[in-house]
Amino acid sequence: MTDGIASFSFDSPGSIFVDWGGARRIGETLSGWFSERTLLIVTDRFLHESGALDDALASLAANGFSVTVFDQVVADPPESVLMACVGQGKAAGADLVLGFGGGSSMDIAKLAAVLLVGAQELSDLYGIGKISGGRVPLVQVPTTAGTGSEMTNITILTTGETTKMGIVGHQLYADRVLLDAELTLGLPALQTAATGIDAMVHAIEAFTSRHRKNPLSDVFTREALRLMAPNLVTACTEPDNRAAREAMLLGAALAGQAFANSPVGAVHALAYPLGGHFHLPHGLTNALMLGPVLRYNMHAAAPLYAELADVVLGASEEGLQARAAAFVQFMEDLMDRSGAPRRLRDCKVTEDSLPMLARDAMLQTRLLVNNPVEVTEADALALYREAF
Ligand SMILES: NC(=O)c1ccc[n+]([C@@H]2O[C@H](COP(=O)([O-])OP(=O)(O)OC[C@H]3O[C@@H](n4cnc5c(N)ncnc54)[C@H](O)[C@@H]3O)[C@@H](O)[C@H]2O)c1
Ligand SMILES: [Fe+2]
Repeated sequence: MTDGIASFSFDSPGSIFVDWGGARRIGETLSGWFSERTLLIVTDRFLHESGALDDALASLAANGFSVTVFDQVVADPPESVLMACVGQGKAAGADLVLGFGGGSSMDIAKLAAVLLVGAQELSDLYGIGKISGGRVPLVQVPTTAGTGSEMTNITILTTGETTKMGIVGHQLYADRVLLDAELTLGLPALQTAATGIDAMVHAIEAFTSRHRKNPLSDVFTREALRLMAPNLVTACTEPDNRAAREAMLLGAALAGQAFANSPVGAVHALAYPLGGHFHLPHGLTNALMLGPVLRYNMHAAAPLYAELADVVLGASEEGLQARAAAFVQFMEDLMDRSGAPRRLRDCKVTEDSLPMLARDAMLQTRLLVNNPVEVTEADALALYREAF
């Protein structure tokens, strides 16, 4: 008799709509999905001013929506941005929220949808399952591929000067997600590389998570990597390649679905202090730490890395250790070819800051517990040194 399947649960947004050019028709689409008509769009100034929203705004107006655009989201948004967004939404009487942008805009949209109707203080929401009550209807439209935030129940806020904290709750899953890869055509090569590697890290860390790893997340991981591994470099070098952009956007969403249910580990735990102290983009910080952490985890995670080698390289008769090493090498080569910076020293990180980064990484207990190998402060310092 076998042990059977360990209990697990698996949650997701209400529905996903994959539709090239769908943002141009969003008014018609939303009017079929919802009866609410006072819409708060949450985005950043660049996307607003670049005209990326123009067709969507025209479509919304034509379909009877009253729209207020909050465009003050910044990368790694602080609490003040969220509160300004909620204030604007309340003043407009918003009864529907649409996140339009990268992870930063979508994260703010999620919590704004909660705080528009909720009475809780923001400070009481940090952690897992602290949100009580509901929210207004929520739609997410990602423009990077990506954080997968459109598929997750997590918001990350910058608290204080340098720390990032998470809020996790089922209310943060969107009702509807629109994946329109046309929106990602304008993403510059470096951002395509960094956000794409972030998405691949989500898939890999979900697959090796010590807690809540489950068969459905594994399915999503495999398909996410199958889509992204051959397309990341193409999306960077041929920005208008529709097939590559579509594969990356869907792959990033599937990776988000995987890690929403099987959480990420040490790559993210070590990446967050780099973002906090040096204001480096989230995807880049993950790319910088991935190689060292993969090698560090190897002795425990080799069987899982070998399985992923089959996905990205095809099946082979090689032994398990050789396959696991081939997977790590594949990811290193991919990052080299993507054009993303590869060492901390190339990103203005100073050597004397490494002990401080290691101390800060220890605060990410929510993530560190998921890593297949325990990470002490001394280990974290060694990993930063290796990445330096
Ligand atoms: N909630 C989650 O599950 C989750 C997961 C991972 C990361 N995050 C968070 O997401 C944030 C990072 O998100 P991100 O990496 O998507 O970046 P971002 O949202 O911070 O955007 C980065 C930049 O890219 C620009 N941009 C976005 N789409 C573009 C496009 N199509 N064309 C041209 N420029 C475009 C934006 O204007 C912005 O200047 C961080 O705050 C991170 O903590 C959240
Ligand atoms: Fe991430």
